[in-house]
Amino acid sequence: MLKLSVVSAAAVAAAFAFVTAAPQASAQSAAEASIKYRQSVFSVIGYHFGGNMAPMVRGDKPYDKESFARSAGIVAQMAPLAHEGFGAGTDKGAPTKAKAEIWTNAADFKAKMDKMVTETGKLGQMARTASLDDLKKQFGATGASCKACHDDYRAK
Ligand code: HEC
Repeated sequence: MLKLSVVSAAAVAAAFAFVTAAPQASAQSAAEASIKYRQSVFSVIGYHFGGNMAPMVRGDKPYDKESFARSAGIVAQMAPLAHEGFGAGTDKGAPTKAKAEIWTNAADFKAKMDKMVTETGKLGQMARTASLDDLKKQFGATGASCKACHDDYRAK
């Protein structure tokens, strides 16, 4: 028994040495993964919100209720996923437009995230039943929640 636990301790120590061998590189790649993750989440949101729904709201493309509602549902599901891509230490590690203020004004940044989650959630819920006029209003309120954050926290 004693022998076994000594072997285990040595194995654990060896494994620990292995995973901590290149802290620089692994911190770097963890930050890179977070940056890619948040950009991917916003890329999906942008595809549906700006790419599919906005032209319908503007009247540049015929309003297709089913397509609008599907996009609204996807945006509502993606919105709550964005915040976890902005963890500590993810201000650099890959090309990013995230401003440093995100981490110095963390509470305000989170409040702006929460506002987007609320507005996209409302839009997703009403999309199948509301009139186009009401959808346009809620689309506008949702877009304002995107802009409020981009103005302060996303580099041009
Ligand atoms: C709380 C802040 C915040 C809110 C709210 C927010 N964004 Fe962003 N968004 C960002 C930041 C920061 C970036 C830059 C991320 C990076 O480059 O690492 C970004 C990037 C993007 C991108 C570019 C993604 C890419 O390809 O790199 C799109 C598109 C986008 N946002 C759309 C939206 C839309 C649409 C909404 C509203 C439904 C929204 N965002 C709400 C902060 C926010």
